[in-house]
Amino acid sequence: MNAYAQKSKDELNGQLTALLSEYEVFKNEGHSLDISRGKPCKEQLDLSVGMMDTLSSKSSLNAQNGFDCRNYGIIDGIEEAKELFSQLFDVAKSEIVIGGNSSLGMMYDAMIRAILFGVSEDAKPWGEQGEVKFVCPSPGYDRHFHLCEELGIKMIPVGMDENGPDMDAVRKIVESDESVKGMWCVPKFSNPTGVVYSDEVVRAIAALKPAAKDFRVFWDNAYAVHDLYERVELLSLLDECKKAGNADMVYMFGSTSKVSFAGSGIAILAASEANIAHAKSHMKFQTIGSDKLNQLRHVRFFKNTDGVYAHMKKHAQVIGTKFDIVDDILTERVGKSELAEWIKPKGGYFISLDVKYGSAKKVVGMMKDAGIMITPAGVTFPYGDDPRDSNIRIAPTFTGNDALSLAMKTLCLCINIVSIEDALKGK
Ligand SMILES: Cc1ncc(COP(=O)(O)O)c(C=O)c1O
Repeated sequence: MNAYAQKSKDELNGQLTALLSEYEVFKNEGHSLDISRGKPCKEQLDLSVGMMDTLSSKSSLNAQNGFDCRNYGIIDGIEEAKELFSQLFDVAKSEIVIGGNSSLGMMYDAMIRAILFGVSEDAKPWGEQGEVKFVCPSPGYDRHFHLCEELGIKMIPVGMDENGPDMDAVRKIVESDESVKGMWCVPKFSNPTGVVYSDEVVRAIAALKPAAKDFRVFWDNAYAVHDLYERVELLSLLDECKKAGNADMVYMFGSTSKVSFAGSGIAILAASEANIAHAKSHMKFQTIGSDKLNQLRHVRFFKNTDGVYAHMKKHAQVIGTKFDIVDDILTERVGKSELAEWIKPKGGYFISLDVKYGSAKKVVGMMKDAGIMITPAGVTFPYGDDPRDSNIRIAPTFTGNDALSLAMKTLCLCINIVSIEDALKGK
């Protein structure tokens, strides 16, 4: 029961007046703060700036095998990049394609290939099979949902708990309906809940027996190396799928957008050899190859997986403080009084806050009016529809520590105001 439920009407009215005047003062100060998107802050970007010095007009611009990286060619990436990223994502070199700068772009392409050409030589294009549906564990990544909406794919939300998606619900949907062609997953430090899929959940996904023979899990491992404290292991879905006789059921994605430079990093697609061969057979009409100089830069800067892990520890030092700020302020101002719930994530980029049902939109609206950009309520659900109107996504990385504190205190102020108003309604 929250702290306001027991209070008298007079007490509540008194507190509300005080908090509203605090809010008005803040609003009139004309702030402009941003906790809306998971972007790295300047200090994080500075960590990788040495990468720019790894290539110059005086250094060799050849790959290890002598290939001149200034020229056209090599559709799936230079060998040393394939070596590094296959180790990072726990797959064989033959199971990876090094792409351009955006994993979201690679997901979009994979989806388009499935719609236009089908997922294999002998599969009918999804686009010729009537309605196509995707399972969407929610709350989830808004851009996955927008992508589905843009392509006319019907989204079926399923719940998430601290171990990942509700697999009983997923199994029922996927195994009974042939028009369900895929499922989104952000398996490690999920956007926005921060949840890491348990071994049991990974194995249950691998063991699915989809009604659609051309079903694919879109495994967006965007936060594979983004641990804040100690390393959290995630079972390899591709390995588990192989064991379950489902090797072709998964497309895995990842990128260095939040390792090196957001927007100028390197993205990968990893999958079974059959899926990679199929993807390449269509990619060859789309591009003659990705930016190999950027691949060279990344490999020369990080050198190996240990180099990446050491680098990510530096990121953790910068953003760990921000996650602590958020957790401390929430605990003090809305946690102890049971006005909101969240799980402190062990990595990734987000904190997913649940406020009382029916109040997220109102809280977010007040934040916006006070000059704080925050992810619109609802967008972490398919069609922007949070059925409980309860989830608020906090992205703490981009903003400076002082501004973040201020934004969080204001968020708590808004939650308190809305909670008192709500308690008053029941009096
Ligand atoms: C889960 C998830 N996937 C993908 C992306 C975007 O990745 P990229 O920059 O590689 O396109 C993000 C960015 O926030 C994300 O949170």
